Amino acid sequence: MRKRKANRFMNAVVVSEYGPPEVLRVRKIGKPVPGDREVLVRVRATSVNYGDLLARNFKAVSPREFNMPFILWVFTRTYFGIGRPRVQVLGSEFSGEIEAVGRDVRRFKPGDPVFGYRGQSMGAYAEYVRLPENACLALMPANMTYEEAAVVPYGAVMALGLLRRMKVRPGQKVLVVGASGGIGSAAVQIARHLGAEVTGVCAVERSEYVRSLGAGKVIDYRMEDFTRNGETYDLIFDVLGRSSFSRCKNSLAADGSYLAASFKTGKLLRMLWTSLSGGRKAICALAPGSVADLLAVRDLIEAGKIKTVIDRSFPLEQAAEAHRYVEAGHARGKVVITVDGEDKTGIKERQR
Ligand SMILES: NC(=O)c1ccc[n+]([C@@H]2O[C@H](COP(=O)([O-])OP(=O)(O)OC[C@H]3O[C@@H](n4cnc5c(N)ncnc54)[C@H](OP(=O)(O)O)[C@@H]3O)[C@@H](O)[C@H]2O)c1
Repeated sequence: MRKRKANRFMNAVVVSEYGPPEVLRVRKIGKPVPGDREVLVRVRATSVNYGDLLARNFKAVSPREFNMPFILWVFTRTYFGIGRPRVQVLGSEFSGEIEAVGRDVRRFKPGDPVFGYRGQSMGAYAEYVRLPENACLALMPANMTYEEAAVVPYGAVMALGLLRRMKVRPGQKVLVVGASGGIGSAAVQIARHLGAEVTGVCAVERSEYVRSLGAGKVIDYRMEDFTRNGETYDLIFDVLGRSSFSRCKNSLAADGSYLAASFKTGKLLRMLWTSLSGGRKAICALAPGSVADLLAVRDLIEAGKIKTVIDRSFPLEQAAEAHRYVEAGHARGKVVITVDGEDKTGIKERQR
């Protein structure tokens, strides 16, 4: 009997020009083949997050609009492509199962359910993604579906990496600015798990969502200025870096800290200045996105400390619709892109 030839092509959502959601188009592209120390993952679900929206239209992002120092804008613009996108398949986080492994791979075997984070390499808006064995990839939490697990890695790994250095203690008061976003929604849950009293800052439309993650109080930034309400916090974690240390200073406890995940050069100088003096500190930090953090995130999920609230799922063919939905500000929870379009079960299917 003649063997059937393996399919060398796969469906992927490809961005061949910068622009609005309509530039996301399904195309057939070459299916990746894993090298000796690589794994091939059959993607089941991926997400729409901040990085996907940015990469899809980075040409339109000016250095001023970019939330990081100018030099990082130059690096990112070069990396994503100056005139046309170099990273043509978006999707930085995903869940799925190991389809094939290279001959030197030890951590995974075909059939393993996994979830992971690709960072700026992206590539998960496709039926298959190839990664090094030691990438930010781990066996999936036993208590999540593919859809739930796919939207955790980016935000939770970033939030954990950033919060770890702040040594949050039980009973401390933590304010998370940008609490409804990818990083903020995980930060609320992790700070709660560490025993903090958490206040989330977000738009009123997402206040129920942020409360459901464990925030005791929610402040709508369009209605109330948290720097003027008389409250003080041990930690103010501003994900987007829209506030400033000088404005937040009086809302910090005497030994409190202001942590910015997004920062320009001025905030870096402020960090240097406050590190030389006593009292309140300004801290700018980058999260490495390590596999150790992903494993710690999986433990937190399995212990019931991090959950996923899904607002809507879109099949891969409707990736443009998913981007439009998020950009219009409709989401009240995570937006998932399912890659085979049918799997809602995940756990059950894996148990069979
Ligand atoms: N330091 C690091 O290692 C690191 C790593 C990755 C990303 N980042 C940075 O993190 C940022 C993206 O974070 P993300 O993925 O969590 O973004 P995201 O998912 O887009 O969430 C941002 C949230 O901020 C809220 N928001 C908008 N304007 C606000 C305001 N004025 N006050 C308070 N909240 C506001 C939005 O929700 P509402 O509409 O509900 O307000 C949104 O949910 C980027 O600036 C990126 O550069 C840093």
